[in-house]
Amino acid sequence: MDRFRVVGGARLVGTVKVSGAKNSALKLMAASLLAVGKSKITNLPAIADVEYMAELLTRLGCKVEIDNIAGEVTIDVPKELGHRADYDLVRKLRASINVLGPLITRTGRAEVALPGGDAIGSRGLDFHINGLAEMGAEIKLEHGFIIASAKQALRGALVILEFPSVGATENIMTAATLAQGVTTIENAAREPDVVDLGEFLIAMGAKISGLGSHTIKIEGVSNLNPATHATLPDRIVTGTWAFAAAMTKGDITIENGRADHLEMPLDKLVEAGAVVTTTENGFRVKMDKRPVAVDVATLPYPGFPTDLQPMVITLNSIADGTSIVTENVFEGRFMFVNELIRLGAKIQVDGHHAAITGINQLSAAPVVATDIRAGAGLVLAALVSDGITIIEDSFHIDRGYPDFPKQLQSLGADVTRV
Ligand code: UD1
Repeated sequence: MDRFRVVGGARLVGTVKVSGAKNSALKLMAASLLAVGKSKITNLPAIADVEYMAELLTRLGCKVEIDNIAGEVTIDVPKELGHRADYDLVRKLRASINVLGPLITRTGRAEVALPGGDAIGSRGLDFHINGLAEMGAEIKLEHGFIIASAKQALRGALVILEFPSVGATENIMTAATLAQGVTTIENAAREPDVVDLGEFLIAMGAKISGLGSHTIKIEGVSNLNPATHATLPDRIVTGTWAFAAAMTKGDITIENGRADHLEMPLDKLVEAGAVVTTTENGFRVKMDKRPVAVDVATLPYPGFPTDLQPMVITLNSIADGTSIVTENVFEGRFMFVNELIRLGAKIQVDGHHAAITGINQLSAAPVVATDIRAGAGLVLAALVSDGITIIEDSFHIDRGYPDFPKQLQSLGADVTRV
């Protein structure tokens, strides 16, 4: 099992390039199921999850070719599709749930294993299920599967989401593309990943308006065509580099980084003392002093992303002052705080609030990555610790950050895979 060995103390300086977003690429791949023929997704990140999604699509009958050098995948979707996503893949890849919408609307049948809870919380699927039911799908939960069927085409409906869930918005939007009539999603997620998926669907011939707003309208069409689409740059990876610069008193230029997708986190970094400037095709974060503690509450986009919460807690743990970080999206996200406390951080958790008292430096110790973002947060923490930190279960980090040790080395850090 791989681990990361991080020697603390480096100032990160240089340029990194951000590739396509994991949370977009996987959804784009799943959405290709909507049209018979060859769709192509470019600007793919080189991560294992892409291979798992390829495996799932292959089991559904597609011919999938990944070109790792070009960073592209071609998915040839047959007329007759399978309809089952098994537990062995769904548990590895939560985004497997995104085949539910395309399968039910195209084939009238979908059986997707329930993913269960994970390290960041319970992660319900009730909004997905209720939304599809409003559109006429019959849904039951049996033997650990969501079993959905529709005797006739789904019909357009008004779907009001209780919370602007990313996954539910995506499944309902994809299902609605081939439904009869107009579907309106109220309280829809506004995340750039949802917009990216919507733009791919439009390129396939879908009729969608309101992307990026609270109300998305989809007018069903009878048929979609395959299309080619470039995945948008990963805003969480981009944000991680921005925090890394601010925490290590560094100076990082992030190529392909979309500052417009990170307004709230970058505002917080500026409040902490960083200087953020735009560059020709990205932006640059520079810091020459100890950060000042910042209060943060995670919220759906355009609020502060829950996926960057470990990074801001880590920054606050070495900042000047005390702060409160409030987690409003996933209740389990504070699990990694115990690992940070092993590195000497002074943090008290009470319900969904964490109170952090900044100290000058963290103290290296062995720690365990519990999920992708917690793992990346621990790498940043290790960079500002004295001595050598070993991070166990680093495979989690590889799922979201292609070649992380190599990129960190290129910025002057001593990080190796052991
Ligand atoms: C996606 C991202 C994840 C990110 C999250 C929020 C992927 C693979 N993952 O997750 O990295 O942190 O968006 O930006 O894209 N909920 C329900 N019932 C539902 C659906 C959601 O109760 O049917 C709850 C969840 O438990 C959670 C909240 O709503 O508390 C938000 O979840 P959601 O936005 O759906 O996140 P994901 O799509 O799972």
